Amino acid sequence: MHNTTSFDSKQFRKALGAFATGVTVVTTRGADGEDAGLTANSFNSASLAPPMVLWSLDKKSSNLATFMEADHFAVHILAAGQEAVSNQFAKSGADRFAGLQVERGAGHVPLLGDCAARFQCRTAYRYEGGDHIIFVGEVLSFDSTDHAPLVFHGGRYGRIQPPPAEVATCRAADDDDFLGFMLRRAYAQLMMPLLADVQRRGLNDLHRSILTVLSMGDGRSVAEVSRLVELGGHLASEEHFQDLATQGLITIGPGEDGGMVRFTDAGRRCASDHMVAKRVAEADATRGFSRDEVQLLKNLLQRVIGNTGAGVPDFWRKENFWRENNLWSTLAKAPENAGVQP
Ligand SMILES: Cc1cc2nc3c(=O)[nH]c(=O)nc-3n(C[C@H](O)[C@H](O)[C@H](O)COP(=O)(O)O)c2cc1C
Repeated sequence: MHNTTSFDSKQFRKALGAFATGVTVVTTRGADGEDAGLTANSFNSASLAPPMVLWSLDKKSSNLATFMEADHFAVHILAAGQEAVSNQFAKSGADRFAGLQVERGAGHVPLLGDCAARFQCRTAYRYEGGDHIIFVGEVLSFDSTDHAPLVFHGGRYGRIQPPPAEVATCRAADDDDFLGFMLRRAYAQLMMPLLADVQRRGLNDLHRSILTVLSMGDGRSVAEVSRLVELGGHLASEEHFQDLATQGLITIGPGEDGGMVRFTDAGRRCASDHMVAKRVAEADATRGFSRDEVQLLKNLLQRVIGNTGAGVPDFWRKENFWRENNLWSTLAKAPENAGVQP
């Protein structure tokens, strides 16, 4: 424990860093018409009625004179993906607004986009606060989004880790949070609408797996497709291939290892439709996640896949079943599916 007579400023800063905050950018427009702004995590709410917020500015800041004279300022609570904006507004000497589109708010103050929330303020009070000036703003208007906020803690950026979703089951056993169980359950639930989709077409999960493998590149033997289908834990029989052929979705040509399997036009359409349904199911399963959280989830799962992949057969490696003629790239190129990535 440090008392007021013995602490040094480094330790003091470190202790203050224990307080996790969001990150804001405070902007204003100078009397000379120049836009000014800086990154600040000293922001806080001050009053609800009247609505007021506060933040503090280092007296050594090159922005001090501008903010001292300004009648208005805007506080932007940055979203999780705006780390670069935070760094840009903390950098001395640079044009902090470079490359950013701004709107104009009260007092012609520049407003940034894509933030978690914004508060347009009239400067109500300025207080001396040691080596900082404390600005209190009366909030004239505000807007907010459901973007997750950027977090600052211990001198580093961070993200909010959402609590585990409350699922319908009670957590009766510790096994409930065994990763394998969670992955299996998440997979089973994610796939429910997709199974319903293939069942409507008179197909089952194994037919679905065969079409999925072919969507990564058709023109493979029955034996090769079967071995790839096994990656999903299924064993496809010759009958499943025959069913798809009877439905006019694939052709099984002559050749070794059971013959060469190719999509028919109808099969290709069916697989493409199913891929769109997959994107819908994924969006539904990650409802309420920010784009960053979805990416984080995928990155972590990639690492699990990497950590557990030592013993898997070589032909299950992505590069061995992913081909030039895969349907995903066609889907991503279709204008109505802009943004869809395999
Ligand atoms: C996460 C973070 C929070 C910051 N918070 C504040 C703050 O509350 N007040 C402040 O005066 N400077 C704060 N700064 C520093 C300023 O953003 C800026 O780097 C500093 O004002 C130097 O630039 P200037 O002299 O051009 O203003 C913070 C920087 C970072 C990265």
